[in-house]
Order: sequence, then C-alpha cells, then structure tokens
Amino acid sequence: MTNSRAAVMKRATRLENVFFSTTFDPFSFSFCLILGRFEKGRIYTFIGEVVVSMNPYKNLNIYGRDTIEQYKGRELYERPPHLFAIADAAYKAMKRRSKDTCIVISGESGAGKTEASKYIMQYIAAITNPSQRAEVERVKNILLKSNCVLEAFGNAKTNRNDNSSRFGKYMDINFDFKGDPIGGHINNYLLEKVSHEGFSFFGSPFLKILFVQLLQGGSDQMLRSLHLQKDASAYNYIRAGAQLKCSNNDGAEFKAVADAMKVIGFKQEEIQTVYKIVAAILHLGNLKFSVDGDTPLIENGKVVSVIADLLSTKSDMVEKALLFRTVATGRDVIDKQHTEQEATYGRDAFAKAIYERLFCWIVTHINDVIEVKNYDNTIHGKNTVIGVLDIYGFEIFDNNSFEQFCINYCNEKLQQLFIQLVLKQEQEEYQREGIPWKHIDYFNNQIIVDLVEQQHKGIIAILDDACMNVGKVTDEMFLEALNNKLGKHAHFSSRKLCATDKILEFDRDFRIKHYAGDVIYSVTGFIDKNKDTLFQDFKRLMYNSSNPVLKMMWPEGKLSITEVTKRPLTAATLFKNSMIALVDNLASKEPYYVRCIKPNDKKSPQLFDEERCRHQVEYLGLLENVRVRRAGFAYRQTYEKFLHRYKMISEFTWPNHDLPSDKEAVKKLIECCGFQHDVAYGKTKIFIRTPRTLFTLEELHAKMLVRIVLFLQKVWRGTLARLRYKRTRAALTILKYYRRYKVKSYIREVARRFQNVRSMKDYGKHVQWPTPPKVLRRFEEALQTIYHRWRASELIRSIPPKDLPQLRAKVAAMEVLKGHRADIGLQRAWEGNYIALVSASAVINAKKRGKLPMAGVQDTRKDKYMNVLFSCHVRKVNRFNKVEDRAIFITDRHLYKMDPMKQYKVMKTIPLYNLIGLSVSNGKDQLVVFHTKDNKDLIVCLFSKQPPNDSRIGELVGVLASHFKRSKRSLQVSVTNPVQCSLHGRKCTVAVETKLNQSQPDFTKHRSGFVLCVPGN
Ligand SMILES: Nc1ncnc2c1ncn2[C@@H]1O[C@H](COP(=O)(O)OP(=O)(O)OP(=O)(O)O)[C@@H](O)[C@H]1O
Ligand SMILES: [Mg+2]
Repeated sequence: MTNSRAAVMKRATRLENVFFSTTFDPFSFSFCLILGRFEKGRIYTFIGEVVVSMNPYKNLNIYGRDTIEQYKGRELYERPPHLFAIADAAYKAMKRRSKDTCIVISGESGAGKTEASKYIMQYIAAITNPSQRAEVERVKNILLKSNCVLEAFGNAKTNRNDNSSRFGKYMDINFDFKGDPIGGHINNYLLEKVSHEGFSFFGSPFLKILFVQLLQGGSDQMLRSLHLQKDASAYNYIRAGAQLKCSNNDGAEFKAVADAMKVIGFKQEEIQTVYKIVAAILHLGNLKFSVDGDTPLIENGKVVSVIADLLSTKSDMVEKALLFRTVATGRDVIDKQHTEQEATYGRDAFAKAIYERLFCWIVTHINDVIEVKNYDNTIHGKNTVIGVLDIYGFEIFDNNSFEQFCINYCNEKLQQLFIQLVLKQEQEEYQREGIPWKHIDYFNNQIIVDLVEQQHKGIIAILDDACMNVGKVTDEMFLEALNNKLGKHAHFSSRKLCATDKILEFDRDFRIKHYAGDVIYSVTGFIDKNKDTLFQDFKRLMYNSSNPVLKMMWPEGKLSITEVTKRPLTAATLFKNSMIALVDNLASKEPYYVRCIKPNDKKSPQLFDEERCRHQVEYLGLLENVRVRRAGFAYRQTYEKFLHRYKMISEFTWPNHDLPSDKEAVKKLIECCGFQHDVAYGKTKIFIRTPRTLFTLEELHAKMLVRIVLFLQKVWRGTLARLRYKRTRAALTILKYYRRYKVKSYIREVARRFQNVRSMKDYGKHVQWPTPPKVLRRFEEALQTIYHRWRASELIRSIPPKDLPQLRAKVAAMEVLKGHRADIGLQRAWEGNYIALVSASAVINAKKRGKLPMAGVQDTRKDKYMNVLFSCHVRKVNRFNKVEDRAIFITDRHLYKMDPMKQYKVMKTIPLYNLIGLSVSNGKDQLVVFHTKDNKDLIVCLFSKQPPNDSRIGELVGVLASHFKRSKRSLQVSVTNPVQCSLHGRKCTVAVETKLNQSQPDFTKHRSGFVLCVPGN
C-alpha cells in the first residue's frame, strides 16, 4: 500500500472510530468535526455522505486541474472531503449503474451554494468528453456560459452577499451512455416574487448586478440610445443600492455577459431588446405621479415617451395603462381612474413583471439551445441525468414575512425528501430485508409540510381563499381565518390561540414550529404579495408592442378585457406547485447533499461566529442523518448486482458460481475477503457497515479489472490472429487453385493449338504460342526447345540419309559464316569431291590417251580414309611468291595438295589433326587459308572450271566444320579482309581486290604479303 493510501485509510479509520463509538453525541461530533477542520483551513467535511462546506470568503487554490485529477474516478473516502468527491460520486453512480442522480446544495444566503454549484459543473465538464467531441464541447460551453448570463440577470448585490441569487435554480445535465454531457435543462424558482428585503425591492438596499454592469460597462453611445446616464443614483429603483460597494470589474463583466449571450445563440436584435427592457425599468422607477383635483397626472411626461420608445409602443397608451384601469362590468367596459397610490403600486408591479418575464424568457431561450435533440435510446443507449439544485436555505429573521414563509416551506419539502430518502427509506429497508434493527426516532416533518400545503386546509389554501374574496380583504382577516382553521394544529400558534405567549403580537404574528426551529411570521403584506397584482392593461400594452420579442413574452395580453379569464394562480400556489414538481423530480434520482455554512455575517475570511454556525448546523438536518448512518450500513446492494460488480474478486464466483443462490455466492465471496464481520445479509440485499470495506472491495475490483481486461485483450488478440491466419490460409488456397487453373488452362491451350501439328506441312511453325503464366516462363522455354527439337527431328526424318552429310555441312557453314560472309552457296547441291566429277570425263579422255588420270588420288587410298570430304582445283601461292595451279583433296584424315598436271601426284600431305583453322574473306571470292599447327599455312583460291566460277568456299568451310564437330575437335574459322596468315612463322596478309581487266583470280606480291586480284564486273 502506498503512503498516501495508508494515510487515507488511517483518516477514514479515525473518523469511523469516533463515528461508531458508544458515547456518541451527533451534534457535538458534527460541530467539532466541522469547526476543527475549518480552523485548519479545511473548508469541507464529510458527515456520512453529506459534504458540509464552510464559506472561506477567500480564494483557495483547491479547484485547479491538479485537484481535479486527484478526485477523478476515486471512491468517496479515498481522498479528503471535497465538493469534487461528491460530484465524482454522483457522476460515477450515474455512469456505473445508469442511475439518475442529483446534488442538492442548500444553505443560507451567502453560504456559498452558487459557488459550489459552479465548481461542481466545472468538475463535471473537466472529467467528461475525453475524446473532445465538438458537439459535447458545445453543450459544455453553453452550460458553463449560461451561469454567467443567469447570474447577471438573476443575482443582486445585497448586504448579505455581493452576488446573491434572487432565484432558486435547478439544472439538469443530460449524459449519453458514454457519460458525456449532451444537453441540459434549467428550472428557476420564484424570481423576486419573494424578497426578504421588502416589497418595493427595486428600491431596497440591494442592487441588480445587471443594472450596475449596464451603467458601468455600456458604451456612451449605447447609454445615449437607451436614454441612460452612468450615475446609478439618478434612478430611484437602484439609488439605495447604488451606495453598496461595486466591483471594479463591472465593465469587463458586462462584456463577458454580452459575449456569453452571443455564444448561447441570442440574436443581436434580441440582445438589444434585452437592454431596452432593462432601461425601460430604470425609467419607470423615475415616473412621478400627482393629482390635479381628482385626476391623476404624470409629472414627467418626457419619461413616458422614453419608456414608450424603448418598449416599442405609443406614449398615450403607456400613460393610459399607468393612470387608468379598464374594468368590465357585465357588457360595459369602463376606464377607472387610479389614485396616486394605486398608480405607483401599478408601476412597481409592472416593472417587476417585465423583469420577471425577461428572466423567464432568457431561461427558456437557454433551454431551447441546450435541450437534448434527436436522442434515440435504442441507438445511443440510456440517457442519464445529473441534477444540481442551488436553492435558498432555511431563513429566520427578526421580521419574517411571506418570502421567509415560502423559503422555509421549500426547506421543509426538501427535508421531507431527505427524510424519505435517507431516514425513512433506510429504516424501512432494514425491516423489509430482515436486518436486525433498533428503530431510531427521528422527527418526520410531513405534518409541517401538510400544514402549509394541504388542499383546503393548509396555510396556502387559506391564503388563496382570502385573496379570492370580493371586497377589501386585509391581512388581519387572513390571520383570523388561520386561527379558525388551524387553531388545533400542534405546529401552529398565534397570540389569539395562546394569549400568554407575549412574544407574538395580536393580529399580526403567527408561529410555525418548523423542523429546524420555531419561526414567527408577520402576516403584513401576505395578501398583496400573494395576489397577481399586475393590472391586465399592462399585459395588453406589452402584447401590442411592435417589438416581436416583447410581444412573445406577454401572450396572455391577447385576450380582450371582456373575455372571461381564469383567475391567475397566486404566488404561493405557483411556488407550491413548482416545489411539488421539484421534489417529485428529485425523488426519482439518487441524491447527494452539499450543505453550505456561513461562518459569519461580515463576509470575513477570519471570523468564525460560533453561535451562527451552531444554528446552521442544527437546521441542516444532518443530525438524524448522522444517527441513522451511525447505526446503519454505509452500503447496500442486491445480491445479483453486487455479484455482477465484484464477482471477479473470488475464484468461487468468477466467471460464474455454482452455488445454490446468488446470496450464497456473495457470502462465499465476502468470506474469501475476510469481511464477514462487517456485513449483514438481508433477504435480497447485502449490507456493508463501514465504507472502508467497500473501499477495499472497490480496490480489489479495480485490480482484477486490469487482469480481466488483459485476459480479454489476450483472447481477442488470439481470435484476431486466428481469423487472420484463416484468411491467409484461404487466400493461399485460392491462390494455389488459381495458379493450378492458370497452368492447366495454359497447358490445355498449348495442347489444343499443337494437337494437329504432326499433320501440318510446317509441323506447326506458324502456330502462335499462348502467353504462359509467370510461373511457367521457364517451362515454356523448355517446352519450346522440346518442340523445336521434335520439329527438327521430323524435318530431318523426311530427308534421305545420303543427303544428310551435305545438310550437316550446310548447317555447320551457316553457323560459322552467316552474317559474316556475302556468299555461302547454300542454294547449290554440294558435291564435295569435285575433282572426281571433273575426272569422270577426264577418265574417258585419258583412257583414250592411255594414261591413268588420277594416279595421285589412287595413292591417297593408302591412308585408309573412309570419306572424301572435299576436293577442288586451286591456285596457290607460296612463300616464295610462286603462284601455281594445284588441287586439294581432303579426306577424313588428310589434306592433300596435288598437282593436276602430274596426274594428281600428291605434293604435300597435311594430316587433319595438324589443321587448326581456316580463314576466308568476307566477299564472294574463293580465297581460303588453311592454318596449321606448324605455322605453314596453305594459301589457295578455289578454282572451278565446271561449272565456271562456282562458289565453293561455304561448302569447304561447312564440310570441315561439320567433320571437326563430329570428331569433337575445334576448328577456328575467321572471316576477314585482308586475311591473316603465317608462312613458316612469318606473318603476312592476303587482301582481296577486284580488278576490272582481270580474267581470272590471281595472286600478286604485296608489301605485307599478297593480293588476290579477282575479276570485277
Ligand atoms: N468555495 C469558495 N471559495 C471562495 N469564496 C467563496 C466560496 N464559496 C463562496 N464564496 C464567497 O462567498 C460569496 C457568496 O457565495 P454564493 O453566491 O455562492 O452564496 P449563495 O449561497 O449562493 O447565496 P445566495 O443564496 O444569496 O445566492 C461568493 O461571492 C464568494 O465571494
Ligand atoms: Mg446563490
């Protein structure tokens, strides 16, 4: 456990020790605790789950980002008491259990309720919308900005509080299933109808924030257009309040309010109208009435026209509404003149009503903008709500009037709710669940609530009855009615009912025994304040204004005077109805409480008025809470939900238990953790006594959650990987089959195209090969080679065997000469042994002459050669530049040089193994040089008589190349001009030159060797 955790646990334990000790006095406990903490500068204290807040009257550095982070997502007792702890608890309850929650903030004027509500809002805004969604940011911005506008219009400077809310405010914030704010709604309660400062509240010693801001912050041009001057004391309604010290920032605040109105979506003309209305109210207060004989007059008529201008109506109509009252008597309509007093009364009521309508219109406007739109539960999940109630606390003054009566009634209602939710429900629940429980007495204030609000019998009903009576009804008559009807009520008394009670004044006072103490009310003004005092004429005046915004604020002005209208509801009934609706709303939510205490009446950060504080602690209704909480259990939950949340803590319950019931499973789980002494088992719920146990359970839950998340991630990752693997496998299979299909279809196509090639003339040479798939490129090459071989073999098979040597020779000639030499002589039949051909005719002639023509050739037989490769007449040149006509005779063993003139006598024999290469020229000439190993090259020019000039070089080269190839020896063939040669080791060249007058090829000597001159054409 970390040090800070340890400290928290220690603190929680210490508090619990005091809390659960046997000699316990709840009041002293609470009071000492609060006081002790406040002295150490700690303004917040937990009493049970209620946060008690002391107004420090100085800025504390405890609301910043760091503090927010400390409380975010923490359990209630894990951090020191703070507003953020309660805000987080309400938010967490809402998010975890999808429950609507509410935070009720109460306390005296100036105790810090509005400040607390703002900090709570700021906290919620700070911890939500982590993904920064634009729509959520917009809603948050408007919710925060709306405060500034509402305060400007609804708050006043009083001698109790510089920023006193003149209205009770309840704000709902709607959240989506992710816990981000998506909208809201504001309810305001009884603006200014009740004011403890007295009836003529504009003239009372407090000052509307907005008036000051407008006069201080409005530009000269703006003030001129509104016919206003900067000096607040020029206006009757605020003259008294103007003496109060004003903030130096009013100018800046005025701008902030104007900006906020723009952000919220007020149009420019609407903002203009707002200022016109405010100015008209200030001018109304300056109207002076007098009487001329019986006729009432307005002394300063100019002001009337200013008001008419600002309210976009006509001066004479304003004047008439101020001085006369239209009354319908049967069918007749008459204008009844006001007395001076009535006119003043009417004017003030009008001013108040305009301001009230303006405020309500602003609230409605804000509600329109932040209302949740297009939310569909089925798509977006459950929409949950956190409500924040900032409402006046219990008030007791020396002189308590209608306003205190309403406020205290409101607090009775809230106390009743508190009792129902916290005390009654709690005790009833213990009984229902069969938990052993010693009933704790508490005061159920339902009886007081009934005293005020009961139909026909309650104080409000009696007051309404009195107001409905025709004729003059006085406050005393109302008190008389109370005495008659409530004389026996235990919580009501008056001087008439108890003559000995001298504190109460005859015909003026009555006393209610409130849950928080006795309060004496003076009936003076009750009737007037309860009636709707605004004459109908004003409503019609406003409805007929040419300013559409104003007209919209006064819809009931549409009715003409003769139309019978329902009597408007009285102020007290309106207030009662709104309280009943509020309490119903709160009752449907899980409540969290903030109780604000004011340490002194001087707005001082140093003073601590013990008596004032004791008083407030008493009224906060905390004591019963402390008692019940102390005897009771901090936490309860149904077994099912408890298991749902904590089942991962024990192996017996995770992921599912196999015990007979959820209750048994919960017991097992609790025993596993060793908490069995701190819990009780009800019929359907488990009850945990100390928060520490819950805190530990939460800690274990949080720890296990990490493991579960990891486990889920692991499983999910595995699933993803398996899925990916399967997909890859599938892809590979598809690939395999596709490839197989491609290969097969290629082979089928090849087979189709080539199936008849055997019967084709060219054995399919013209057949186009299909494009192979990539993988078969090498296969295609091999296939083509096989095909070409097959085709070659087929072609060769059709050639007669005797032609084959010639064919081979031609192929060999092609291989070495093609592209190098102009003439290869492929077109002719290659006879090979040309001397034999010539000699065939020569034999006949020779026989005639008695000579053997080829005696030399016969000699070569001794060589035992198998084939004659080539023979031909040649002209040769030797190293002595001697040119002679000879013949060459090449067998498969030797090359013979013969002399045709001497019956082909062999002159020289070169074994073929001595022959290493041939050189020919690139022209059509018949030059050939035989290169030998011993560098005794033989330079000849083939010489054909029959047919003349036959081209035989190609044949000679082909025959020799083919022969060498078959005997696996190499023969170098070079095609150049001039041709290189070596005669007995001496390098020389033989160039070929064409000469026009040359009759037959002949060698001549040249500097570098020889020139073969050939006949040109
Ligand atoms: N937490 C706080 N830190 C510092 N100052 C505070 C705090 N709470 C209240 N105050 C001071 O007390 C003044 C009165 O507080 P606030 O307006 O919230 O009272 P209230 O309970 O709403 O009164 P009312 O019922 O008149 O509206 C504030 O203007 C501020 O100066
Ligand atoms: Mg306030």
